[in-house]
Parts: sequence; C-alpha cells; structure tokens
Amino acid sequence: MKRVVAQDLEFNGQKLRKGDNLVLFYCSANRDESIFEDPFTFRVDRSPNPHLGFGIGEHFCIGSHLARASQRALLRELVSRIDSIELAGEPEQIESSFVVGLKKLPLRYRVSQAA
Ligand code: HEM
Repeated sequence: MKRVVAQDLEFNGQKLRKGDNLVLFYCSANRDESIFEDPFTFRVDRSPNPHLGFGIGEHFCIGSHLARASQRALLRELVSRIDSIELAGEPEQIESSFVVGLKKLPLRYRVSQAA
C-alpha cells in the first residue's frame, strides 16, 4: 500500500515533502512494541487489539465485515466438527512485501465422532 504526501510536514522527526511516496507496512504496525505487549506472539484473546489488519482511515477495508463473517463461519464449522487439532510440521510464511500470511501450515486433526 502506498500514499503520496499532500503537503510538506514533519512527522515523528521525519521531514516529508509534498509529492513524496510513502509505503505503508500494516504488518509492521501490528507488531509495534509501543502498542502491543509481546507483539510477535499470536494471542487470539488479545484485548484490546487495535490492529491495523484492515487498514485505517478513508481507505479502511470495505470488505472487512464479509472477511470477519466468513472467517467466523469457517472457524465455527471447523470447531464443531473436530475434537482436536495440532501442528504437524513447520509453518512457512509467504515471502512478499505485499501479502502477509502463511504459505504452508501442516495440521493434524481428529474428526469428531458426531460429525
Ligand atoms: C482477511 C481479509 C482481508 C484483509 C486482511 C483486507 C485488508 C485490507 C486493507 C489493509 C486495506 C487498506 C488498504 C489501504 O490502506 O490502502 C483494504 C482495503 C480494501 N479492501 Fe480489504 N481485506 C480483506 C478482505 C476484503 C474483502 C473480502 C473485500 C471485498 C469483498 C475487500 C475489499 C477491499 C477494498 C475495495 C479496499 C479498498 C478500500 C478503499 O481504498 O477505499 N477486502 N483491505
């Protein structure tokens, strides 16, 4: 993601000039140690969790509600159909400066008898 500076300004001691290109790294903001305790640990119960995974401001993700609803539906179904789930190998990150996520996540799970 990128923004173009609209007017000369100073931000956090950095002089920015009108027309400068800025690259946004939301994934880096989500690991800001001045905001998050233990920022490199995935904690599903982190609260409050002021992450910027869907951006911020006027370009905030228009699909965030759909994304959240579909993830919730997926996890709800998964949890109702399995008894246990565990890592079965080393996770592998996607190597990209644009998309942050996992390329591989080997899992072993036990399907519940009721499913
Ligand atoms: C987990 C899934 C998703 C993530 C992590 C995500 C993340 C983001 C982020 C970080 C931005 C801000 C971009 C910026 O600051 O320039 C954004 C914008 C946007 N997203 Fe998503 N998104 C997701 C799902 C979706 C879905 C499902 C849709 C559409 C159905 C969608 C449509 C858009 C659009 C159209 C924008 C641009 C909004 C604008 O510039 O005004 N996204 N998204």
